[in-house]
Amino acid sequence: MTGRRRSPEELRSHQWYGTEGQLRTWSHNARMRQLGYEDEEYRGRPVIAVLNTWSDINPCHVHLRERAQAVKRGVWQAGGFPLEFPVSTLSETYQKPTPMLYRNLLALETEELLRSYPVDAAVLLGGCDKSTPALLMGAASADIPSIFVPAGPMLPGHWRGETLGSGTDMWKYWDEHRAGNLTDCELRELQGGLARSPGHCMTMGTASTMTAAAEALGMTLSGASSIPAVDSGHERMAAASGRRAVELAWTGLAPSRILTREAFEDAVTTVLGLGGSTNAVIHLIALARRCQVDLTLDDFDRIARTVPVLANVRPGGETYLMEDFHFAGGLPAFLSRIPDLLHLDRPTVSGTLGERIAGAQVHNDDVIRPRDNPVAAEGGVAVLRGNLCPDGAVIKHISAEPHLLKHTGPAVVFDDYKAMQRTINDPDLGITADSVLVLRNSGPKGGPGMPEYGMLPIPDHLLKQGVRDMVRISDARMSGTSYGACALHVAPESYVGGPLALVRTGDLITLDVEARTLQLNVDDEELERRRAAWTPPPTRYERGYGALYNDQVGQADTGCDFEFLARPGEVRDPYAG
Ligand code: FES
Repeated sequence: MTGRRRSPEELRSHQWYGTEGQLRTWSHNARMRQLGYEDEEYRGRPVIAVLNTWSDINPCHVHLRERAQAVKRGVWQAGGFPLEFPVSTLSETYQKPTPMLYRNLLALETEELLRSYPVDAAVLLGGCDKSTPALLMGAASADIPSIFVPAGPMLPGHWRGETLGSGTDMWKYWDEHRAGNLTDCELRELQGGLARSPGHCMTMGTASTMTAAAEALGMTLSGASSIPAVDSGHERMAAASGRRAVELAWTGLAPSRILTREAFEDAVTTVLGLGGSTNAVIHLIALARRCQVDLTLDDFDRIARTVPVLANVRPGGETYLMEDFHFAGGLPAFLSRIPDLLHLDRPTVSGTLGERIAGAQVHNDDVIRPRDNPVAAEGGVAVLRGNLCPDGAVIKHISAEPHLLKHTGPAVVFDDYKAMQRTINDPDLGITADSVLVLRNSGPKGGPGMPEYGMLPIPDHLLKQGVRDMVRISDARMSGTSYGACALHVAPESYVGGPLALVRTGDLITLDVEARTLQLNVDDEELERRRAAWTPPPTRYERGYGALYNDQVGQADTGCDFEFLARPGEVRDPYAG
């Protein structure tokens, strides 16, 4: 399965440290002595890069400085030589306009660091939303043996005897505050209980979804993705990952042998069966393209119809959080409920998928439901098509109020997020519970970065009447911790002239999730007239990274990757012959 064991001379690092009689080797070894190492500490040993997204500004990764030490411990134990590389941190909370703008930058940094330094294998530390796809995309493009160490979920939140989910309960209680049901004082008190420890969001948001996807793909140790960040098991997993990375370096098991079509199908099955985040659709398509695997929106919709949602974890489920999922058996237990839907013979960083889930048991049938008592009969994400989204849109229908899943209503259009914030509570707009809220210029180029604006707020007057969900449509994304009847990722986006740019307030829009359609009820001649009168919005960035992003980023249905990074083609190793 893992192939022949390499000799020390076959390691990439040999080209830097081991080739005798060359000035470059003599010079590199001189500098290693400058770093304080003797030859026997690193020469002939696999060099393991530890890519660390730790930062003071990232509360989801604040424990990763310590975890990197555990990884290094494991590398030393297994006879490797660890080198830690600090890389960009993508903090979902703090980085504006959105860390999605920088996912491809971290992917590029990861790829180029791995390629340009003497690295035989890599350990990738991350977990806050975009960090996981970014690190995996970079490692896939570099195609150097790699293992991912998920940052782990934070502990469950608590307030006045209630268990709180980060993100999910932030939105919920903020709305209750706006509806007049929660005082300033109570809101302040709740703030202290929402996020209790280091680690990523502990709902089945984007972070938990993507780390689970990484595990399902086979890029982590088995069971790694749900270990709480502050559990001592997390440190043990980090050390074990370090040890495993050394073995990967010796066997040369590169991402290209793990990230196959079958692996992506299993990751999609996993994400859908977990009731995971819609963001996974974009990230998995982007990662698949890096691996020259043709994964499309249609694959998600096809697989969704075959996979029941079994994870009763908020926000798709009603009750539990990631710590409950972990103690119910974690991902191996979850996957053991759907072996017939998986490709069990494919390789992972540690054995086949079948070997990883053999003997796994579910310890709580309400957290990981049996097939005959699912949270939902079908996977949590549906792909919509229609004249409003010719290249697709997605909706997490399991987190929407069921009566909205087939709905026709008049559009209320906001040209951008700021305009929406300014006017959403204006009584002159005449918004009712039947209205369809439309937000444009929030896509990959228009946002820019496709921010998580997709769960547009319910107007105050409707909140006070008890309305908690409405049909909302945008070319934005939505936080994995959000919920509601929100059609997202409309492609092509309005900023480049997609049909969303042509909608006018008062137009009737029909959402029909069962039929998988999203339709603007305006005839084609009228739409052509509007198209002819449409003028593109001004350029978002004149220079700098933003200009590169604007030039290169693709649409949501192709994963929002940079064209020059997604396309096939060889990039030579620095010392390749
Ligand atoms: Fe980092 Fe939610 S803010 S995962």
